[in-house]
Amino acid sequence: MNETDTLTIIKPDAFGSGKAGHIIAHLESAGFRVVAAAVKHLSRDEAQAFYAVHRERPFFASLVEFMTSGPCMPIILRRENAVPELRTVIGATDPAEADEGTVRALFAESKERNAIHASDSAENAEIEISFFFAGTERLPG
Ligand code: CMP
Repeated sequence: MNETDTLTIIKPDAFGSGKAGHIIAHLESAGFRVVAAAVKHLSRDEAQAFYAVHRERPFFASLVEFMTSGPCMPIILRRENAVPELRTVIGATDPAEADEGTVRALFAESKERNAIHASDSAENAEIEISFFFAGTERLPG
C-alpha cells in the first residue's frame, strides 16, 4: 500500500454550523484516515499567507474575510492517492457544479463559502501541511 498525506480544511461556514463531524464521517467512508487535526481561528496575516497564490484575484479580500470569520478545522488525511482522491470526493469549487454526493454538493453554501479546502498537488500538500502542523505529532506512516 502506497499511502500519502494531504491537507483539508473544514472552513468556517461548515465548522460554525456544526457540520465538521458529518464531513469527517463522509471522508472516512471514502477511505481517508485522520492522522492529525486542529481547531484554529486564522488571523488576517495567516489567511493572507495561506491563500497568497490568490492575492491578485478579485475575490481575495472577501476570501480572507470569510476564512477569518470564525474557527476552521485543518486536518491531515491519509490514504492511497490522497491528493487526487480528496479532490474528487470534495467536488467542484462551486457547489452548484459539484457532482451529487460530494462534500461540497452536500454541505457547501456558495462558491466562496464552500465548506472545505483540499490541497491541489502533492507539493502543495506538503507546504500546506507544514503551514498548520509543522512540529506537530501525527500518526506514523
Ligand atoms: P479553495 O479550494 O479553498 O481555494 C480557494 C478558495 O477561494 C476557494 O476554495 C473558494 O473558497 C474561493 N473562491 C474560488 N473562486 C472564487 C470565486 N470566483 N468567487 C469567490 N470565491 C472563490
